[in-house]
Amino acid sequence: MMTTKNAVLKALEDARGNRISGGMLAKKLNISRAAVWKAIDSLRADGLQIDAVTGEGYCLLSEDDSLTSAGINALLSTKVFGKEILVVPTITSTNSVLKTDFIDKPHGFTLVSEEQTGGRGRLGRAFVSPAETGVYFSILLHPDLPIEKVVFLTISAAIAVSEAIAETAHFSPEIKWVNDIFMQNKKLCGILTEANIEGETGAVTSVIVGIGINLRANPNLPNEVIEVAGALSDFGTVPRRAALVASVLSHFEALYATLENGNTDELLKKYRSRLCCLNQKITVISPSKKYNATCIDINENANLIVLDEEGEKHVLSSGEISIRL
Ligand code: BTN
Repeated sequence: MMTTKNAVLKALEDARGNRISGGMLAKKLNISRAAVWKAIDSLRADGLQIDAVTGEGYCLLSEDDSLTSAGINALLSTKVFGKEILVVPTITSTNSVLKTDFIDKPHGFTLVSEEQTGGRGRLGRAFVSPAETGVYFSILLHPDLPIEKVVFLTISAAIAVSEAIAETAHFSPEIKWVNDIFMQNKKLCGILTEANIEGETGAVTSVIVGIGINLRANPNLPNEVIEVAGALSDFGTVPRRAALVASVLSHFEALYATLENGNTDELLKKYRSRLCCLNQKITVISPSKKYNATCIDINENANLIVLDEEGEKHVLSSGEISIRL
């Protein structure tokens, strides 16, 4: 059941940039005018930019970029993903806090933050996550999947982010194996997938998919990432954060259904069509060695197949390996 507050916001969102009178809202939603005022007050207290003109009504301003659970909810077209959602202004890491404080939440629960003070990346690296220039969120899943199929969640998340960027920022990015979102050799988004396994049976009890998207250039990046860091603003329009998060959740839920139906071929097809390293020279970085190779394909398990300079074939699984373009 949608709350009155969410219903009012949904109506304002549908009319975003245009004015809608209190009377109209009350009639449309079958509630009293007093209930409309109360909802508007509460939405404003959450930080939404709602303008009011006596006798003319309310308007959710086009430039409003507030990030609130009600705001994301009003834009969601999912059945489950993000339906329970918590938005905070700051956090250490959405992945870490989801794991320590919210792991018993239902499938699809999403934790969103405007900034992270201890954002984490793959292979133990830090993920710089300042407010204003990016958006950071983690989705909790309780999938019925064997551990070897968890990589398909990573892949689905990468496709979902790419599709959401295409939809909201109006350009079509590429994927660098295994789950970095790139455009013209610049990284726009990182994804960190962490699985929790039951010790005795080895069953996957939950998976946390953490996504950090760079919206605007960040002038204070450390030297080691400045070369490769890009942002949506370099290539397209910067979407409203709530719209971007809602779009990722919608695409991800659809891809998750494809995975549940066992249709990994369909996922691989979408993934392969966005993969930027095919037939390219790359550097493979594994814990034991670093070597140059040519990237040939991905196989049915989403492993990367490369040929090294001696012509020897290697089948790489994502765990501890990364590649450099
Ligand atoms: C990478 O590029 O190595 C992965 C970066 C993943 C960053 C996201 S931001 C939200 C979530 N919380 C984290 O601490 N990390 C992920």
